[in-house]
Amino acid sequence: MNERPIGVFDSGVGGLTVVKEIRAALPHEDIIYFGDTARVPYGSKSVPVIRRFALEITRFLESQRVKMVVVACNTASALALDFLRRQTGLPVIGVIDPGVRAALRSPAVKRVGVIGTRATIRSEAYQKRLQRLRQDCRVIAKACPLLVPIVEENLVGSAIARQALEMYLDEFRAEPPDALILACTHYPLLKQAIRELLGPGLALIDSAEETAREVVEVLAARRIEGPRDRPGTEEFYVSDSPEVFRQVGEPFLGRPMGAVFEEHVWKRDLGLGPDGTPC
Ligand code: DGL
Repeated sequence: MNERPIGVFDSGVGGLTVVKEIRAALPHEDIIYFGDTARVPYGSKSVPVIRRFALEITRFLESQRVKMVVVACNTASALALDFLRRQTGLPVIGVIDPGVRAALRSPAVKRVGVIGTRATIRSEAYQKRLQRLRQDCRVIAKACPLLVPIVEENLVGSAIARQALEMYLDEFRAEPPDALILACTHYPLLKQAIRELLGPGLALIDSAEETAREVVEVLAARRIEGPRDRPGTEEFYVSDSPEVFRQVGEPFLGRPMGAVFEEHVWKRDLGLGPDGTPC
């Protein structure tokens, strides 16, 4: 088990921000990444569809003999995490709980901003968890659907990015939250632009960093850490356009990517009935 890779997936390139942090924390672990580039974005899709996609990818990662699954997508974590945990015997980690814990680390935090895709915000996954852990916490959640395409088009430093952020973060400028959760794996690339708008003192919670911390803890708790005597390897799979994935993805990863393979996960038999329940 210990020598097996860590499986990580996202709807596309965003989860590479999580891979970057896992690699920084665990240089010796092997990683297999799947980006569902044929079906991105997930943020505008329905719950049954997102669950089906997430299960197809999990089955693919299982076939690659991974030792854990990291759902490096806030949308899939919000809508499919419990479902996946019921479908696989592997440990499954999402990005929401690590981000929520980090936001509430200081007892002084009483007003938390959350920005993410429409599906993540509509699920209220963050709002419910934050309020469960801190009853007097006020949560201001905002869907920011234009930010994912802006990041994917490499427009993070542009006037368009600034205008979109001004529009979405207007409420936070007027009354800054104690912490702002970047509830989408694409958003860490906008950190600098967000800081320029909301001020350098704002606590920006990057779920990628926090998730990497949780991966370290789960591997240690389950005693499935990989051997430390060699550098970890990486394999990248996508459901469409490997070359585009490499071009768009390298800034997310912060370095050149190795080979990218194409894999059509929807060809797998999931054993699900027409309504999406296991049969
Ligand atoms: N990476 C996804 C997330 O963290 C956003 C992109 C999408 O809509 O698929 O929610």
